[in-house]
Amino acid sequence: KVKALIDKLCLTRELKRDEWVTLIRERTHGTAEYLFELARAVRIRYYGHDIYIRGLIEFTNYCRNDCYYCGIRKSNGNAQRYRLSKEEVLSCCEHGYELGFRTFVLQGGEDGYFTDDRLCDIVSSIRTGFPDCAITLSVGERSPESYQRLYDAGADRYLLRHETYDCGHYGRLHPPQLSASHRRKCLWNLKKTGYQVGTGFMVGSPYQTPENLADDMMFLARLNPQMVGIGPFVPHHDTPFADAPGGTAELTVFMLGLIRLLLPRVLLPATTALGTIDPDGREKGILAGANVVMPNLSPAQVRKKYLLYDNKICTGDEAAESLNNLKERMEKIGYHITVDRGDSLNI
Ligand code: 5AD
Repeated sequence: KVKALIDKLCLTRELKRDEWVTLIRERTHGTAEYLFELARAVRIRYYGHDIYIRGLIEFTNYCRNDCYYCGIRKSNGNAQRYRLSKEEVLSCCEHGYELGFRTFVLQGGEDGYFTDDRLCDIVSSIRTGFPDCAITLSVGERSPESYQRLYDAGADRYLLRHETYDCGHYGRLHPPQLSASHRRKCLWNLKKTGYQVGTGFMVGSPYQTPENLADDMMFLARLNPQMVGIGPFVPHHDTPFADAPGGTAELTVFMLGLIRLLLPRVLLPATTALGTIDPDGREKGILAGANVVMPNLSPAQVRKKYLLYDNKICTGDEAAESLNNLKERMEKIGYHITVDRGDSLNI
């Protein structure tokens, strides 16, 4: 039954809600292997064996929000807060460019210090200094006007995970000031502005059901984003979910395979969270249909402070400096890291 649903997804790119639920709930090791074979074939048809790299610059861990799962939530008094200056961000880009990065991802908490004026100044400096690079922002919910100004300043892409489609589930993960519907509104605004948009969700977040994941998949089908970032939920010791069980690599890679079949041309990272819970997470992600990795380009002294979850890997092969190790690991499984902006074919 599961195999037939995988075939149907591959052929028609459309499943009903109860079919998604069955597919997710009744998956087995055998059906997962079958899914990954199809997902790899689709990925190779569109992207060959190329892997795109993104340099992740975590430029502020101040955040006005208080998401129950996140280590940099406002109420975590143990987090050591920092902000990078424009000069520090630019020197990360400089370093990254030399290493072969052609996309920079500026990620941060929702930090009121970074007004449109300040953020636009940083974006336009990168735009001028690195004209052949893509600039991706991941700075949360802002007004349509703000998204427009940042776009006009030179940002090309925007990452904003929807986290979970279901309003009730969203409410169990976030304080009442935040809502699933406003989150999604922001995503549609980003699309309208002209960004290449990335969304996504955590796998195995507290209270998540197969029905929630089914809704997430159906939302992805409607939004048709250029990028989808998913990773396992990993508990952080200073949050209300400190003792909640984490998501598994097994379900995460299964969902990666499904996303590749649903959105054949999407850019799909094998995320840091996946690499954190499984030493072979990156490889497993790529072999399930992922085609992007995002090594950490933040200055070494702040990396440990951008702790969204416990044990987050930020040294070794996770670090941009060890790109050569990452290259070797990818070559071992038959894939090649490329020096390219790596724009989505999903336009
Ligand atoms: N475990 C896994 N992922 C997390 N994120 C935040 N906290 C955690 C956690 N504890 C993810 C969210 C957010 C992205 C930047 O990091 O999905 O969108």
